[in-house]
Amino acid sequence: MNAMPGPPQHQENLNLTLAQRSNLWPPTARAYHAWRARSLRLLGAPGLTLAREAALLRALCRPGPGQQWLDAGTSSGFYAGVLARAGAEVLAADLSAPMLQEAQRRQRGLGIQWAQLNLEASGLPAHRFDGVTVGATLNETHDPARLLAELARLLRPGGQLWLMYLRRTAGPLQAALARPALGGLSFPDPAWVARALPGLRLTHGLNVGAVRFERHYKAVEGNPQELCKNA
Ligand SMILES: C[S@@+](CC[C@H](N)C(=O)[O-])C[C@H]1O[C@@H](n2cnc3c(N)ncnc32)[C@H](O)[C@@H]1O
Repeated sequence: MNAMPGPPQHQENLNLTLAQRSNLWPPTARAYHAWRARSLRLLGAPGLTLAREAALLRALCRPGPGQQWLDAGTSSGFYAGVLARAGAEVLAADLSAPMLQEAQRRQRGLGIQWAQLNLEASGLPAHRFDGVTVGATLNETHDPARLLAELARLLRPGGQLWLMYLRRTAGPLQAALARPALGGLSFPDPAWVARALPGLRLTHGLNVGAVRFERHYKAVEGNPQELCKNA
């Protein structure tokens, strides 16, 4: 694997949810892309194909040449591939080495950089990226607030954050999957996500069934006009 060596990780970061641990197994990594291609439709967003999701990301975020993007929790590299094909420079990171191997195989020849990192405490320099994509990593990570704070830190002022996650619907299935023994998944409420991103402003929010898409803009301190122009 040509993955960048990751910075040292704290022991506390190895406190993983069952969902996170399941992604460390090679069979999960091999099966993931087939699941991803159908998952949003199965999870209550009929008609939401990968092609439509990619088109939504491109239309709202306009990734392009000269931009540095992080794909946070890349799995099979779907968002990383969309960003790289649009001409952006991409670092695709994941906790799971098997997922990174699978992503590299699928997204070959696009110049994507790969890194095995816990993105709750990445060790990467602040303000490193023009954009960050997060496809459902928020649902799986051990501490969603910590993940969001870290990703906000990595964004430059004026940068943008793209989130896709399963939002809280308060159904019995979500309650079961939130139990540590059954996955330890989180299903955040959009209002909670907004509160966890105090330096960012929501510019677009879209619910398709239980699936939630959001684009946030990181304010440039002391310059509200610039914020409006770029948002
Ligand atoms: C639901 S999958 C989503 C994958 C991908 N973003 C997509 O849209 O297809 C979540 C991925 O995030 C990774 N992950 C979970 N928590 C993480 C963390 N704290 N740091 C890095 N990767 C993480 C998992 O290993 C898994 O591959």
